[in-house]
Amino acid sequence: MKINIPVEETIKKRSSVRTYEERNLSATDKEKLMQFADNLSNPFGEKVNFHFIEKATDGNGEKLGTYGVIKGATSFIGVSVSDTEFGLEAVGYEFENLILYATHMGLGTVWLAGTFNRKQFLSGMEIKDDELFPAISPVGYPLEKKRFIEAVMRKLVKSDQRNPWHMLFFKNDFSTPLTQKEAGIYAIPLEMLRLAPSAINAQPWRIVKEGDVFHFYETHSAKTKEYEKSIKRIDLGIGISHFHQASLERGLSGRFEKRSQQKIQIPPNTKYIISWVPEKE
Ligand SMILES: Cc1cc2nc3c(=O)[nH]c(=O)nc-3n(C[C@H](O)[C@H](O)[C@H](O)COP(=O)(O)O)c2cc1C
Repeated sequence: MKINIPVEETIKKRSSVRTYEERNLSATDKEKLMQFADNLSNPFGEKVNFHFIEKATDGNGEKLGTYGVIKGATSFIGVSVSDTEFGLEAVGYEFENLILYATHMGLGTVWLAGTFNRKQFLSGMEIKDDELFPAISPVGYPLEKKRFIEAVMRKLVKSDQRNPWHMLFFKNDFSTPLTQKEAGIYAIPLEMLRLAPSAINAQPWRIVKEGDVFHFYETHSAKTKEYEKSIKRIDLGIGISHFHQASLERGLSGRFEKRSQQKIQIPPNTKYIISWVPEKE
């Protein structure tokens, strides 16, 4: 379902915020955000659960449990899901839609899957023993001035840059780049996916257009650990959210489903996830 905000505009506006005013989210903002969260869905048919908590900062305004990465924020949203085939992709999709909504409201957010202490955040959240608890984000009022640690982090993973088209999008096989012209009406949805945030800005998404169908893949290196691969599944869900929401905004409908990969030679360390099948007029 299309989320009710200007999607392209919001995607272009969003960037990670790690420094906040030291105050809780207002009651009105909290209600607006959580009501929106309650009505979210995802194309994978998984149930994604959101958990809102408020946590005091320590004396220096640093958020306990974020290893000094977050300052000022006292309101957080955690996300949990069952450990199913598309659980983590669904988390990426739905939480990103919530993050885009928060961005539209003028709030700051940042996906945290690595630099947060699960144990410290678990208390106060009703997460079941058999659920995954892969990520949280602060939600609050951004402070314009970035701290040194934040600037260093952004520089380290080149947060302001994204990979070019020819590294990400292909035609029929993984060796022929797809041009913007060839992407046609899907050039904008693909561009919106390209702008998506990902853990350590790795941008693990690859897309092959075969006929009218777009196949989505996750890529990693031979050394990537299992736990890192699971975070990349979240990244894929985020990219798919941008692609899907931008498509819907342009009036392009279709469905996600698994498609045969027989004709496509998939490179090593690359995993097929799902395909977008446009609706025929
Ligand atoms: C799934 C996911 C996990 C992330 N985990 C962390 C994290 O643990 N700590 C952190 O500081 N940033 C984290 N980030 C933020 C990324 O570093 C950031 O999105 C990326 O560098 C692009 O920058 P931008 O969001 O400002 O466009 C994460 C992002 C994603 C999508």
